[in-house]
Amino acid sequence: MAESSWKPKRVSGGATDSTTPAFKVELSIECAETKKALEAIVSENGVFQLKDHKDTTSPSLLILELQENAEETFSVIRDLVKMARGTEIFLTAAKLDSAVLLEAMRAGAKEFLAQPIQKKEVEDAFARFQERAIATPIQDGTTPKEGKVLAFFGGKGGVGTTCLAVNAAAALMELPDKPKVVLVDVNQHGGDLPLYLDLQPSHSFRDIAADLSRVDQAFLFRILTKYESGLQILASGYDDLSTGRLSPDCVESTLRILQGNFDYIVLDCGHVLDLTTKKALELASWIMVASTLMVPVVHRTKRILDLLRGSGFPQQKIRLIMNRFVSGEKDVLVETEEILKQKAYWLVPNDYPSVSHSVNSGKPLLETAPKTAVGKSYADLARSFDESSNKSDSKSSVLGWLSPFKSKKPQAAT
Ligand SMILES: Nc1ncnc2c1ncn2[C@@H]1O[C@H](COP(=O)(O)OP(=O)(O)O)[C@@H](O)[C@H]1O
Ligand SMILES: [Mg+2]
Repeated sequence: MAESSWKPKRVSGGATDSTTPAFKVELSIECAETKKALEAIVSENGVFQLKDHKDTTSPSLLILELQENAEETFSVIRDLVKMARGTEIFLTAAKLDSAVLLEAMRAGAKEFLAQPIQKKEVEDAFARFQERAIATPIQDGTTPKEGKVLAFFGGKGGVGTTCLAVNAAAALMELPDKPKVVLVDVNQHGGDLPLYLDLQPSHSFRDIAADLSRVDQAFLFRILTKYESGLQILASGYDDLSTGRLSPDCVESTLRILQGNFDYIVLDCGHVLDLTTKKALELASWIMVASTLMVPVVHRTKRILDLLRGSGFPQQKIRLIMNRFVSGEKDVLVETEEILKQKAYWLVPNDYPSVSHSVNSGKPLLETAPKTAVGKSYADLARSFDESSNKSDSKSSVLGWLSPFKSKKPQAAT
C-alpha cells in the first residue's frame, strides 16, 4: 500500500489533464454531518470530484450509507456490484461491527468509512481506490457503453403491448451473453406491468417523482423490484384512477441512469402519446409500435405512425410489430402495410390460450410455453434486437434494420 507516499494531485480549477483522471464520486448519504465532511474532502482533492446530480452517467465511486435495515443495504450493494459498470462502492456507518463488515465485504463493498468521518482514513481509502483504478482501467473515468432503450408502444389499448414488453425483456435475459435487462413501466394511464410477473412492488416512479434531486444510481437500485430470473422491474405507480402525473423529467433522469447500468432498458409505453411518453420514445433506440390486423387498431396505428413521423422521430427508429397474426391473413397484412406505409418488422402469432395462461400465471411465456410458436417468436424477437444492436454499432445500413424480418420466416399460428 502506498498510503504514506500518496498525495492527492492538485489540478488547477478542478479541471483534469490526461494524466489525472477525475473520478466522479456520488454520495448516497442521509446524515448531514457525514455528507458535509465527505464533500469537503472530495472537493479539496484534485483527483476526485463530486458528481453533479444532473450528470446521469455512472460514478467511479459511490459512497453508501448503511441503512437501518442492513440487509437491504447489502442487497443494494450486491445488485450495484453486479450491474453498475466500473463503479466501486464504499460503505459508511456510525457503527461498523465485525458482522456488518464481513457481510458488506461479501456483498462487494471495497472500503469502510467509520463515522464521524476521519480525513486521513478517507484519503487512505482514496489512495487504495486509485491503485486499484490503475490496475483496472474501467475505473479511469471513461464512459462505458450505454444500454439500448427498446420502447414498446401500442397502436391501441389491448393489442398486447405489455405482453410484448414483458416477454421481450424475459427473452433478452436468456441471450447467450446474458445481458443485464431492466423492464420499465412508463405507462401512466394504467401501469399494470408487475401483475404480468406476479409482483407487488413496494416502490415505483412515484418514489422518484417525490424528490427528483435524490435520484442517483443507489436510490434507483433501492426502488427496483427483482423478478426471480434476475430481471429488474421499475413499476409505474400511476394509473387513470391515481392522482399526479409522471413527468417527462422524471422519465428522462431515470432512463439515463439506467442506461449506464443495464444493457437493455425495455419500456412499456402504453398507448397514449403524451409528453412523458414522447420523452421516453425520444430516448429509445427503437420504437416498436404494436398493432393487430383489426380495422379499429389499424386505423389508430396509422394515426400514431403519422404522428410519430410528423413529430420528427426518424423512420429507421420505428418498427411495426403485428401481434396476433394468423397465416391466413397474409393478403390483409400486405394491404395493411400499404395503408400504414410501413412494413411489419415482426409478426407474433395469435395464440390466446398460451398467452392468457402465461399472463394469468404471472410468468413470461418462455417459462410457461417456450416451445409454442408464440414463445419462439418472442425469443427470436429478442435475438433480432441483439443482432441489430451489433449491426448498428458497426454502422450498418438501413437495410440492416430490416434483415431480421427478411431473413426469418414470419412465425404465424395456423
Ligand atoms: N400473441 C397473442 N395471441 C393471443 N392473445 C394475445 C397475444 N398477445 C396478447 N394477447 C392477449 O391480449 C390481451 C391484452 O394484452 P396486453 O399485453 O395486456 O395489452 P395492452 O398492454 O396492449 O393493453 C391479453 O389478455 C393477452 O392474453
Ligand atoms: Mg398494457
